[in-house]
Amino acid sequence: MTIRLLPPTTVNRIAAGEVVERPASAIKELVENSIDAGATRIDVVVRDGGRTYMSVADDGCGMTPEELSLALERHATSKLPDDDLENIHSLGFRGEALPSIGSVSRLTLTSRTADSDNAWMISIEGGDKSELAPAAHAKGTTIEMRDLFFSTPARLKFLKTPKTELAHIVDAVKRLAMANPAIAFFVFDDSRSLLKVQQAQDDFLVDMLSARLNRLDAIMGNEFAANSLPVDAERQGLQLTGYIGLPTLNRGNAQMQFLFVNGRPVKDKLLYGAVRGAYRDFLAHDRHPLLALFLHAPTDSLDVNVHPAKTEVRFRDAGLVRGLIVSALKYALAEAGHRASTTVGQAALGAFTPHQGTNGTAPVYRQPRASRGALRDLNRQFYAPLTNLDNSPSVREVVSDFENIEVSQDYPLGVARAQLHETYIVAQTDRGIVIVDQHAAHERLVYEDLKEALAETRVKRQGLLIPEVVDLEEAAADRIIKKAEEFRELGLTVEAFGSGAVVVRETPALLGEIDIQGLVRDLADDLAEDNEALSLKDRLADVAATMACHSSVRAGRLLNGEEMNALLRQMESTPNSGQCNHGRPTYIELNIADIEKLFGRR
Ligand SMILES: Nc1ncnc2c1ncn2[C@@H]1O[C@H](COP(=O)(O)OP(=O)(O)O)[C@@H](O)[C@H]1O
Ligand SMILES: [Mg+2]
Repeated sequence: MTIRLLPPTTVNRIAAGEVVERPASAIKELVENSIDAGATRIDVVVRDGGRTYMSVADDGCGMTPEELSLALERHATSKLPDDDLENIHSLGFRGEALPSIGSVSRLTLTSRTADSDNAWMISIEGGDKSELAPAAHAKGTTIEMRDLFFSTPARLKFLKTPKTELAHIVDAVKRLAMANPAIAFFVFDDSRSLLKVQQAQDDFLVDMLSARLNRLDAIMGNEFAANSLPVDAERQGLQLTGYIGLPTLNRGNAQMQFLFVNGRPVKDKLLYGAVRGAYRDFLAHDRHPLLALFLHAPTDSLDVNVHPAKTEVRFRDAGLVRGLIVSALKYALAEAGHRASTTVGQAALGAFTPHQGTNGTAPVYRQPRASRGALRDLNRQFYAPLTNLDNSPSVREVVSDFENIEVSQDYPLGVARAQLHETYIVAQTDRGIVIVDQHAAHERLVYEDLKEALAETRVKRQGLLIPEVVDLEEAAADRIIKKAEEFRELGLTVEAFGSGAVVVRETPALLGEIDIQGLVRDLADDLAEDNEALSLKDRLADVAATMACHSSVRAGRLLNGEEMNALLRQMESTPNSGQCNHGRPTYIELNIADIEKLFGRR
């Protein structure tokens, strides 16, 4: 074996293996170059999902003939004037994209600078550069790629259908468009328009946030714009802005989560993890919020040179970043209080909007006249086993307090008038009607109570008359036993019971009568998921959510008027009661104006 230096074409093809994974990655590199070149408009054309032809045209600074030739050389870049990798302000800096793409396709560059009278053109095919030739082109650059991967048949085989590749291309351009509202973006497939976003108006600098929301509206859809909350937070030089969706607007995957660091779209585990942490209280494991977050960090506080495609970054202080995201998102969500997504009701009923008035103002929630503790005790009883019924005078007082209540602004969720299908409470408010899903509401209340009790380390346990044995797989039983101490803190006492079984001796008192078998199995599943990295607190919150879910099995429970009203009052005084732990709304509101519309009175 003799060692030798590889020829440049081979070196470029090796680099292309990382940089040009599929047509969308080539488009991403070229659009980034156009952004770096100061373009105000970028046009992308794609044929056959990018396999036979792609082009990116811009009105940026352009290149001189000398630069055109140099741009195709490996490690040639105009973006590191001081060779300072700690201080990167452009999207590109590696000088790899053009030579890499040029080694795996037939590439043509046509460009003209502002102070040149004519344009020049150069081609490269499988690594062989052509002579420079004069051409016709307005100020700016057009880069055309034909027959991508013609020189690397192995990679060609991995291409998915044109439709799939096209979807990836549009996604890549959309991400860059989100971060750059000052640039117009167009994507065409032959003659079909796939993306068309205009340049934000001149005053966008005055109101960057609204320009951004307009752009997000255009790309993520107006459902997102209407159901999202602004985020604007800063900590130690790190700045986080953007919009996050209400928990009730959620998806089965994280594809609608767009994260940017210094204008660069990233798919970063740390950031996704922080988002998950912030929404933990509001969404089931398998549901994902929609959001677009822009993190700005001093260039020396992060390393962008981690990944050839530059989709990952490394932060000097990861804890700081995580903390900023979690607290900023939690704050925004808490500010939204019980607001739920308007889509929920609209999808089902047109005029129904979940507790957000037609005038767009969320009701102002007041402290109920009875204390939250008394209300909670009262509600707990309704769901507790009958033997637990407590007839203490304080509870009676609360009950009588709600007799003959008048509908008023004091009760944003209204006065209960009926229970239908043993599941829905119908209440009259001063401006319409409210329908509560008592099961979802109760689940949320129990969860909030559990969290509160947990914070004060005073979760009451309730001994079981007959301890319950739960048969599990051996590994699952081991996982449960390993966490027995944590569960105990939450009021659940479990012990090993031979191999592959556990015995439950005590359950949290505020859960009332629960399906112990189901709970323990779900907890074992929770633990099986890769939750090791979670802090104890987060994990406890997870467990509390699972427990709350199991406490609320009795959807079909008959409630009397006092019980219904107590539930409404407790919802009003409990944070985050607008949605259950799975992101479903706990109630919807129909305003008089909407009802009148339904009957053609308006
Ligand atoms: N659309 C463009 N407009 C103007 N200059 C460009 C354009 N695309 C590429 N260039 C020039 O070619 C150089 C090499 O591009 P590239 O291979 O993508 O590396 P990098 O972007 O990392 O510098 C860039 O530094 C830039 O000077
Ligand atoms: Mg580049």
